[in-house]
Amino acid sequence: MKNNRVCEILGIKYPIIQGAMAWIADGTLAGGVSKAGGLGIIAGGGMPLDILKKEIKTAKKIAGDKPFGVNLMLMMENVEKQIDICIEEGVKVVTTGAGNPGVYMEKLKAANIKVIPVVASVALAKRMARIGADAVIAEGLEAGGHIGEITTMALTPQVVEAVDIPVILAGGIGGGKQFLAAYALGAEGVQVGTKFLVAEECNVHENYKEAIIKAKDRSTVATGTFTGHPVRVIENKLAKEMLKLEKEGAPIEEMEKLGVGKLKLAAVDGDVKEGSVMAGQVASMVKKRETALEIIVGLMNDLEKEKVRLINYLG
Ligand SMILES: Cc1cc2nc3c(=O)[nH]c(=O)nc-3n(C[C@H](O)[C@H](O)[C@H](O)COP(=O)(O)O)c2cc1C
Repeated sequence: MKNNRVCEILGIKYPIIQGAMAWIADGTLAGGVSKAGGLGIIAGGGMPLDILKKEIKTAKKIAGDKPFGVNLMLMMENVEKQIDICIEEGVKVVTTGAGNPGVYMEKLKAANIKVIPVVASVALAKRMARIGADAVIAEGLEAGGHIGEITTMALTPQVVEAVDIPVILAGGIGGGKQFLAAYALGAEGVQVGTKFLVAEECNVHENYKEAIIKAKDRSTVATGTFTGHPVRVIENKLAKEMLKLEKEGAPIEEMEKLGVGKLKLAAVDGDVKEGSVMAGQVASMVKKRETALEIIVGLMNDLEKEKVRLINYLG
């Protein structure tokens, strides 16, 4: 894309980043997305070091000379060692979540790795810009997985006004209308998670894919809001149980205990009743299985169509 800082900084064709998805976004998905011209991300959060190395190699094999990234969840014990692997393997981009990457910044920069933190507030975005982040991902509460408390509609323009680095919008991208809206809000790229869950290259369990395809507009709920760590999931037996506990004022530890291992249960074992089926509010717009290339080209074509519609409309 012309004059797009996200494409320029990351060396990619389209300003579409595939969001990290723990237990799901492996080297096959990340490689497929990067090969198609977006930026694929391997979800490193909690991944053992040997597996991370293996997934990086898989992504490299698929993506060829195209860049891909690794997501680091900063509260994980092995994060420093994961960074060493990213450096050894020549990974070009890291996205970060669950903390402040400040202490690792010098090391990452020295290795010429672009650092893109996920933020859910203006204050954090400003801090990340100050410590040298190359861009930030502003994630709103429509997104799947762990979320903040502000909508993308309200958060993105405030982050754009507050920092000079490019802002990538995450949460609620289901098609060209939302993609165009992201630009209107001042973002220069989008991070997409839920839509890639049904990609052919995505190795999530078939039952998970079916749950996404069946989802309706009101299918997701945010659990754990009162613990300070809300998570957006498809409402199922587990989510109902969690919401009931919340209503009853159960201790935070009880809620947290109930959530342990539940994403793996759904994503790997396919138990979409008792497991945590993390997904965003646009799950209802995901109706067909496509390849990563079809998803990316589809989004770009749809963006173009919506742009023309809007120009005609606004004059
Ligand atoms: C199943 C699932 C797991 C996720 N896991 C992570 C993660 O490990 N790290 C992270 O930074 N974001 C994670 N996210 C958030 C995504 O990377 C992305 O920002 C989000 O899905 C974008 O919103 P959307 O779902 O509306 O497309 C996850 C999202 C989903 C749906």
